[in-house]
Amino acid sequence: MKAVSTNVWHIAQKSEMLFWDKKRYEPARLIEAIRDKYVLFTEIKKIYPQILAEPPDIGRALEIGIGPLCLGVVSILEPAEKWEITGIDPLPRMALPKLPSYLEAFFSELYKKNMTYVQTPAEEFNNPVDSFNLVICDNVLEHTYNPHKIINNIYNLLVPGGFLVLRENTLSHLSKWRKKIFYTKYHDEAHPVSFTYHDLINIVKQTHFNLIYSNRDKYDMIKRICFKSRRIIIIANKPE
Ligand SMILES: C[S@@+](CC[C@H](N)C(=O)[O-])C[C@H]1O[C@@H](n2cnc3c(N)ncnc32)[C@H](O)[C@@H]1O
Repeated sequence: MKAVSTNVWHIAQKSEMLFWDKKRYEPARLIEAIRDKYVLFTEIKKIYPQILAEPPDIGRALEIGIGPLCLGVVSILEPAEKWEITGIDPLPRMALPKLPSYLEAFFSELYKKNMTYVQTPAEEFNNPVDSFNLVICDNVLEHTYNPHKIINNIYNLLVPGGFLVLRENTLSHLSKWRKKIFYTKYHDEAHPVSFTYHDLINIVKQTHFNLIYSNRDKYDMIKRICFKSRRIIIIANKPE
């Protein structure tokens, strides 16, 4: 998986900025965003419940590319007082506009959890090594400029035994080539990087993670013909 130039990435980030700025004014999409996090949360619980179990002491969780509204899986970890949560994203944090009162109450509860927000690309995030018990990266790597470096960084940031949960959209080999060949024609500026399921598995393995679980969504023929991406989940941990 090749890194892309930071120029191409900056163009992608411009469109991300517009996307989030619009999204925060649409309550239905905010609810959908939280629902999507619960889906991942529930899935992790089903696959490997230890990851989300109440930490004996304090658990430190990091979400990479959490988005400027800070709606991540780390935002819903329970019990809140047992988790120190950090979200990083290159975009500046955005406030929510005035919402209907029932949503206002929901989001203010959510935001009481006091997340540390660091505005930085994950490639440049240099916390001390061995700082986190859990790292979540959900639908982010396609938007970055150097996914390989990010996976490497995550490895260093995790304590031995710590977990990485990766949920990403992947392309088939054919779609990846099509995108490469017709890049200018089908310019997909929001996604500067593309990779297959096996590309991701290889990076995780090369980085010396223990691969615990990997799965991909069912993929019907129509979607395949239309070159749609396919969602995958990978769970890995850093050897003790
Ligand atoms: C599709 S959004 C996903 C946000 C969130 N994870 C979610 O699932 O709602 C992709 C996010 O990745 C962030 N991003 C882009 N490049 C990044 C990088 N180099 N490091 C970390 N995050 C990045 C973008 O700013 C954006 O917020």
